[in-house]
Amino acid sequence: MKGIKVEIKPGIFWVGVNDRWKDLFEGIWPIPRGISYNSYLIMDEKPTLVDTVEEPFSHELLENIERFIEPSKLGYVVVNHMEPDHSGALPALLRVAPQITLVCTAKAKEMLKNFYGIEDNIQVVGDGEEIKIGAKTLRFYGIPYVHWPETMATYVVEDEVLMPCDAFGTYGALDGGFFDDEVDVDYYIDEMLRYYANIVSMYSMPVQKALAKLEGLPISVLAPSHGPIWRHDIGRVVELYRKWSNWEGDKGVALVYGSMYGNTLEMMEAVARGVVKGGCSTLRVYDVSRAPFSFVLAECWRWKGVVLGAPTYDTGIYIPMDNLLKTLEHKRLRNRICGIFGSYSWSGGAAKKMQEAVEGLKWELVEPVLAFASQPTPEELLQAEALGQAVAQKVMED
Ligand SMILES: Cc1cc2nc3c(=O)[nH]c(=O)nc-3n(C[C@H](O)[C@H](O)[C@H](O)COP(=O)(O)O)c2cc1C
Ligand SMILES: [Fe+2]
Ligand SMILES: [Fe+2]
Repeated sequence: MKGIKVEIKPGIFWVGVNDRWKDLFEGIWPIPRGISYNSYLIMDEKPTLVDTVEEPFSHELLENIERFIEPSKLGYVVVNHMEPDHSGALPALLRVAPQITLVCTAKAKEMLKNFYGIEDNIQVVGDGEEIKIGAKTLRFYGIPYVHWPETMATYVVEDEVLMPCDAFGTYGALDGGFFDDEVDVDYYIDEMLRYYANIVSMYSMPVQKALAKLEGLPISVLAPSHGPIWRHDIGRVVELYRKWSNWEGDKGVALVYGSMYGNTLEMMEAVARGVVKGGCSTLRVYDVSRAPFSFVLAECWRWKGVVLGAPTYDTGIYIPMDNLLKTLEHKRLRNRICGIFGSYSWSGGAAKKMQEAVEGLKWELVEPVLAFASQPTPEELLQAEALGQAVAQKVMED
């Protein structure tokens, strides 16, 4: 982004890039509006870069740095996290600036060797350790598994700037606005939730630990490595991270269903009617085969109620629903109020297996689990409506 200079505090600049080319983050998650890799340059006696960008953008990063300083004058590069979206430009940077000392955790040091063959000029820092880079002091906090085991956050003590890498990151490139008060915050918060549910969510316990460790730290700017820089709504996003990592859902229901020939679909319509009659109008219905998986996952993370419906398929759970349940188990979503319904024609199987999956998730199951043969009768549709109603009442009373 030639010509754009973004100063986040006196002497601290954003020198990151927008990736508008990638369609699937990590090869899985759609990013229709791109993503940013935020890198920060701190100008001081020992100029310091915090995190880099993905490898294909190495040249752009170098150009961004050159607008402030020759890369050969850089003192340190802090490596908060080794995932290649943040470390990928290190080899290119070190080729033009071999004098740089890399600052990272002991675990990251091992990874630097395994990823890039980098073994020299590495300064390992421990939790709470500080480095003076001139007038400014950098303090490092280990935040293991947010997002990888080697991850740490960097805090600029004098400016109260926290750079927590993936934590508080969002999908979505930076479209002219860099700070939360310059952008459509609601859009980025939705994308923060999707990023959380897709990327970070399995590590909700480590997120809780990281939040506890950083509690009470004065933060005037929260500068993650993806998406906007927060200086206005910091309390709001910290509270969201607390909530998401504690599996607290909003009052509402995600109703996710699959259907081949319309039988489960008919049940779903009745359940949906029941949810609304039960007093919950914040209901989102998703076809598990068609709605982008990444978004469905985020909606399961958003709402307190998750209702699942699927036909039996080869004696098991309809495959797209099976994938969703396996992913929810993998991501360890907890603390949901759940209803289950299914359809079959001879053996059955889906409803029972969905129930087992939900028991594995330790969710609160609202009985009865409904399994109907082929086309649901009017009486069965009334039962489906009653199930929706019961789930909604539980969700709303909680
Ligand atoms: C490929 C395929 C496999 C199925 N396997 C089973 C099965 O193993 N056991 C069973 O009871 N029904 C099975 N069914 C029947 C469906 O579960 C049943 O017709 C259901 O009502 C379909 O719901 P839908 O209209 O929502 O797609 C299968 C159907 C299809 C198309
Ligand atoms: Fe990451
Ligand atoms: Fe990242």
